[in-house]
Amino acid sequence: MFLMEVDRIIVVGAGYVGLVAASCFANAGFVVGVVEKSEERLNSLREGISPFYEPGLSELLKEGILNKKLTFFSNQKEALEKLSPKYIFCAVGTPESADGSADLTFVEEVLNDTLDYAKEETYFVIKSTVPVGTADLFSTRAHLARPGKVFVVNNPEFLKEGTAINDFLRPERVVLGGDSKAVEEVGKLYESFLLNHRPLIKTDSKSAELGKLAANLMLASRISVVNQIARLSSAIGSDMREIEKILQTDSRIGSKYLYAGLGFGGSCFPKDLKSFVSLCQKMDVDPIVAHSIDKFNDDQKLFFVDQIVKDFPNPTATRIALLGLAFKPETDDVRESPALTILSALEKHGFSFNAYDPKATKNFQTAAKKSDKINYCESLDEALTGAHAVVLVTEWQEFQRMTPSKIAGIFKGKHIYDGKNVLPAKEFVAANYIYRGVGRY
Ligand code: UGA
Repeated sequence: MFLMEVDRIIVVGAGYVGLVAASCFANAGFVVGVVEKSEERLNSLREGISPFYEPGLSELLKEGILNKKLTFFSNQKEALEKLSPKYIFCAVGTPESADGSADLTFVEEVLNDTLDYAKEETYFVIKSTVPVGTADLFSTRAHLARPGKVFVVNNPEFLKEGTAINDFLRPERVVLGGDSKAVEEVGKLYESFLLNHRPLIKTDSKSAELGKLAANLMLASRISVVNQIARLSSAIGSDMREIEKILQTDSRIGSKYLYAGLGFGGSCFPKDLKSFVSLCQKMDVDPIVAHSIDKFNDDQKLFFVDQIVKDFPNPTATRIALLGLAFKPETDDVRESPALTILSALEKHGFSFNAYDPKATKNFQTAAKKSDKINYCESLDEALTGAHAVVLVTEWQEFQRMTPSKIAGIFKGKHIYDGKNVLPAKEFVAANYIYRGVGRY
């Protein structure tokens, strides 16, 4: 029996970016090997269990394993020997160093293994978010060590946690930076993902690298600007949801990333902003705008905390139902979650908590400081029981269903703090609750 010849890909790093890319490439028919150092992660992956919650990912993993498109390796050398891949995707972490720049130790290791062990003509694709100039530097090293054999391309990822599979399978655009022959070869992998004339942007590697940081800076800037407007809206007594409508219906402004809230969190915006600032400083460019976006974002969480503190003169006798611990809905990721900052600030004032999240409680318990003031709850009902105030931090759909009549039997407090402006404010006010949103009421 003859089997159809398909390209083989290795993805190094089974984090959000790596695992989503690997599962989606396997789903598209490629043979994919995933390299992951952590034994615990590897064991669960081999059983088709994703190490983190991402809607649809476990299903794709199981399907890939069943179809024999997806296999897992503990080291790159073994994966290269077994699969002889044409493409190596580097999706390992680039943690923040003390000076705000990205630490490239893991990315370097992946390049070194590629240069040492690649047999065939190989395309080394950088998916990790790396400092500008990394692909050029790696390209020079590849050219010196393996001339005409290993080619380097930067391929920034734009997926969002919570909708990662859809973002990867149906990207708005794919960006590839590097020399034209290498970009052409890597571009072939994406043809089937770019139906309906979605663009493949072929560019130089520095533009691709800076473009990634710039996209996150632009999105983050919209959030900080909208939160700035919300603060003024609070002060003058206008309604931020109405202002959002006025902004969003202007096609020049657009409708996305214009929701006021508790500031952005997650592993990307805060880190990429810092990388941007650090790069500006290195290049002697004043980072004043990026800096203000970041600082304003940090303050936004504390601004909300201040309102709560003012309303409760006796915090030690006050229990808060803290709803939403993940940095956003549909994920169990708590990195830079606003809930961590808000809880820690309120705790210093003496408040106690019924904390609840549909998916992220375990990760939050690991990330937050241990405290006997926090009662982790297993349901929304449990969190509301005995609480004096509701503080909604993450807009999980389950929370959005709360109305005065639905919670009346279980929640005996009067204060509702809606950090995402998703609750029916008018209904709460009419039912004599003290409702406070972000830039409204
Ligand atoms: C972000 C980008 O959106 C992705 O394109 C990028 O690939 C990713 O970073 C990355 O660099 O890896 P992500 O961090 O998963 O994705 O989440 P977003 O949905 O963009 O949300 C980020 C934060 O902004 C969340 O805390 C969210 O609550 C907040 N946000 C978002 C607002 O406060 N208001 C909005 O209107 C939109």
